[in-house]
Amino acid sequence: MPLSFTVSTSPVDRVSADLLAVPVGTAPAPSARGRRSAPPARVLGPGAEALDAALGGGLVAFLDEVGFEGRLGDAIAVPTNGSLRAKAAIVVGVGDPAKLTADGLRRAAAAVARRASKVTSIATTLAAAASEVGAADAAQAVAEGLELGSYEFLEYKRDPQPSKLARVTIVGGGAGVRAAVERGSAIATAVRWARDLINTPSKEKPPAEIAAEARTLMRGRGVKVEVLDPAQIRQKRLGGLVGVGQGSAQTPRFVKLTYTPAGARGRPLALVGKGVVFDSGGLSLKPPGGMETMKCDMSGAAAVIAAMSALKDLGVRSKVTGYVPLVENMPSGTAIRPGDVLRIRNGKTVEVLNTDAEGRLILADALSLAVEDDAAAIVDLATLTGACVVALGEKIAGLMGNDDAWSAQVRDAADRVGERVWPLPLPTDYRRGIDSSVADIKNVGPREGGALTAGLFLQEFVGDVPWVHLDIAGPAFLGGDDGYMTKGGTGFGVRTLLELAATFDAPKAKASTA
Ligand code: BES
Ligand code: MN
Ligand code: ZN
Repeated sequence: MPLSFTVSTSPVDRVSADLLAVPVGTAPAPSARGRRSAPPARVLGPGAEALDAALGGGLVAFLDEVGFEGRLGDAIAVPTNGSLRAKAAIVVGVGDPAKLTADGLRRAAAAVARRASKVTSIATTLAAAASEVGAADAAQAVAEGLELGSYEFLEYKRDPQPSKLARVTIVGGGAGVRAAVERGSAIATAVRWARDLINTPSKEKPPAEIAAEARTLMRGRGVKVEVLDPAQIRQKRLGGLVGVGQGSAQTPRFVKLTYTPAGARGRPLALVGKGVVFDSGGLSLKPPGGMETMKCDMSGAAAVIAAMSALKDLGVRSKVTGYVPLVENMPSGTAIRPGDVLRIRNGKTVEVLNTDAEGRLILADALSLAVEDDAAAIVDLATLTGACVVALGEKIAGLMGNDDAWSAQVRDAADRVGERVWPLPLPTDYRRGIDSSVADIKNVGPREGGALTAGLFLQEFVGDVPWVHLDIAGPAFLGGDDGYMTKGGTGFGVRTLLELAATFDAPKAKASTA
């Protein structure tokens, strides 16, 4: 359930809530020569002094006794002796307050949210804990961390026991704090929508269903929705989408989303998302373990749809378009075969040697359309390769592109919101790895450098338009909770796309390959 937020400037001992959460940090131990193992000294954050006073100055002694060091993300319940308006209190660790970032605040807020699942209301002074983060940014981060950290997917539990947390009071004022909390809440709502869709079993989210949900979601949000059905997909010669989709009883769809705010000038920012609702591998069938998480193979699509839905609320002033190919990759008597050749929307032919390299085939059509529509710049998000997960692990996305300035713009946006991305190269001499003897190009290269040949494949379809490819195969879907990221679908990319759209500066330089 989404949280409802209030902002209060009352002193903490006057704020009423079931639970008060106050920050405690660590100070770097003063020249700990020869005493490396000494625990760092603790710093009582805003609001913690009031709690300390309530305990007659005994807070630090208590924290000592229970071994609470104040590391980022630690949290512990503390007695209040009935002296506060709040019924109970927890202390949340924030590490060194001078080093505390907006992302650290998000993580700490998530720890609070998890500790507060049995109460309905909390108040927290956490937003004031970071000396280097402005009041508005801090409040936004705390709102996001609480909303994202309290996310649960309980749709299929017979006896769901959802978190009771419903109301949050953010204590501490400052210019723009209320608006920032609203912003954080709107962003988190979009991320949660993406998580829900990713976590939904493939059976319940065939392409037609996702297209219909996108239509519903965009109502009143300033986004035009166009859905191509199978006949229109063939008529438009989206050969990659047709080929990947032909093995499934669930027919493909193509969703185009258009956001044109009043007064917007110039060419649009184009967002492209891989929407494979289930990836069995097709005839190049995956082993059972490899399929277990493949309901997540539409995470790029979910991120694009979710981000588009929040543009208006966030007051984005640039034109933004979304291109979402939706398909199921299944083996059957009608499935595409290794050796078959497809013709992509832009006219290039592809020899399909591995039907499990399907994402690039549907993205090729979508990228072609974005180029035809004269996009100023393109970002695609795709759970594209296991090789990228091997390279960067499950928490970091790979970033590839054909234009250094545009890549920097995307990377900076990701850094600002705490979504971790890292650059990978598109080496021109690796391009021959996808040379085909029968078609213009083949859909699979050598195993080594698999994330890069996938990127090089996509590059064939973007022409000169500045383009960034984010391979989100790792961070789209996690094996366990991690801060404000939650087990299963994470909604990775939504926050980067929203930050990018909000700050979009159409790249000027012509594309140059690194
Ligand atoms: N959807 C997978 C990639 C993937 C793997 C996503 C693990 C999330 C977690 C993609 O369609 C795929 O199967 N890629 C193949 C490409 C190969 C056949 C060239 C892969 O990575 O093995
Ligand atoms: Mn695949
Ligand atoms: Zn896939």
